Amino acid sequence: MPEPTRPAADVPAEPPAGFPDGPALFRLDPRVAHLNHGSFGAVPVPVQEAQAALRAEVHADPDAFFIAVPDRLAAARARIAAHLGADPDGLAFISNATEGANLALDAVPLAGGDEILVTDHGYGTVVEAAARRAPVTTVALDPHLPDEDAVRETVLAALTSRTKVAVLDHVSSPTARIIASPRLLADLRERGVTTVVDGAHAPGMLADPLAGGADFWFGNLHKWGYAPSGSAILAVAPQHRHRIRALVPSWEDRHGFPRSVENRATADYTGWLAAPEGLDLIERLDAAKVRAHNSALAAYGAALLAELPGLTPLPHGDALAMRTLRLPAGVADTPDRARALRERIAAEEGIRVLVWPWPGGGGIRVCGQIYNRPEEYERLADVLPSYLSRA
Ligand SMILES: Cc1ncc(COP(=O)(O)O)c(C=O)c1O
Repeated sequence: MPEPTRPAADVPAEPPAGFPDGPALFRLDPRVAHLNHGSFGAVPVPVQEAQAALRAEVHADPDAFFIAVPDRLAAARARIAAHLGADPDGLAFISNATEGANLALDAVPLAGGDEILVTDHGYGTVVEAAARRAPVTTVALDPHLPDEDAVRETVLAALTSRTKVAVLDHVSSPTARIIASPRLLADLRERGVTTVVDGAHAPGMLADPLAGGADFWFGNLHKWGYAPSGSAILAVAPQHRHRIRALVPSWEDRHGFPRSVENRATADYTGWLAAPEGLDLIERLDAAKVRAHNSALAAYGAALLAELPGLTPLPHGDALAMRTLRLPAGVADTPDRARALRERIAAEEGIRVLVWPWPGGGGIRVCGQIYNRPEEYERLADVLPSYLSRA
């Protein structure tokens, strides 16, 4: 492997100050350092309370609640659209990014010989959704590629005349790289390739969460958008909307997208109805301030880890609230070893952090969120060397 590019350190001179009242907005176990917001998010108390109030409504008068659900979902969807800068007619609530990938890929007509392009940074369930529908070409993106342009060129070089669809992360999960940049999406469009963007990490983390426009885009609201678990959004460009089919057709199926996708008969809709409260809260806290704080904290954590022997920081998109580093060769090079290391650190140190597997040696990802404090990253940096030497 070529000598990795070591990105310029972006160490804040001082540890970032705590976000005012950040921890108090959550009910997280204070004995645990939660440095893994990117995996499952966390729900702030005001959003938990909004969902609890909705659940109380269901229990008080189920008939009234369920009859009103379609109209209330339309109103909630419009609030989400305003936050994301999206066309309100082109959005549907879905449960998670995995569902979004399956809905999107079912709506692309594929003929024999067509191929789907994915990258080796793609999320497992999303890549699987592609592989179930057509042969995939997996583009290997060296995690050390210096910038978005290098990523874009590598993806474009892998296109063949058979590439019909490209499924790309906006922000990749293990490596926290921007892959679906607006420029790459425009280049793919120009070449007639249908774009499916996995924006799982975008809402609530990025100022332009829609990546400048894709044929299909899905994003989780329950990660960085402070929404209850099971809240996500699928956005579909106008020319594809008529081909979207619910995975489980229900009462509203005849109305087509988006109602066909959102109606799940008698289900728990309270998470979706409370979801706009999460994005509203970020606005009230000052979205730019939240983004800057989270990114600075993640950068601080990564800078501390970068001081440890054998760890190499990876290039990252500006302003992301996640940073990643490669671990020494041989550590976490398989999913089992990565999981074992992650669970040992959690059980023995009370630190939740993502360790990701990669051939030759995995990596570690730290996230920044308004409930985090610099001391939590300092604790991780103190204990990690002993785990690495044992691994
Ligand atoms: C980039 C990416 N895509 C998809 C997913 C899957 O999300 P979900 O569990 O909501 O389907 C994740 C989850 O961490 C992710 O990081």
